[in-house]
Amino acid sequence: MARVTYVQPDGSERTCTNFEGMAVMHLAIANLVDGIDALCGGVRQCATCHVFVDDAWSARVGPPGPEEGEMLDALADFIEVKPTSRLSCQIHITEELDGLRVHIPKEQPGI
Ligand code: FES
Repeated sequence: MARVTYVQPDGSERTCTNFEGMAVMHLAIANLVDGIDALCGGVRQCATCHVFVDDAWSARVGPPGPEEGEMLDALADFIEVKPTSRLSCQIHITEELDGLRVHIPKEQPGI
């Protein structure tokens, strides 16, 4: 089991637990976490699952893959993107990520 804490822009937090292998996005959707809509269902087409990985976890989570990185670069013209930005559908929960914290952006891309 692994825990992920979702931090809202107002600082409120919610910790959800699930088995390894589930994407951080899927865990949020299953628990009705605000601010993650995941309109494409996890196939890197919408970016409405964008999160900022907590600085303390960024190295462990790692950087985006090439296609994810291109999408985040394109998003930067429309919304705030940080070096710790990731698409949460592309972060798969592992035992090493137990305790992961991600921050929900104030605004997500419009579709
Ligand atoms: Fe659409 Fe992640 S759910 S890009």
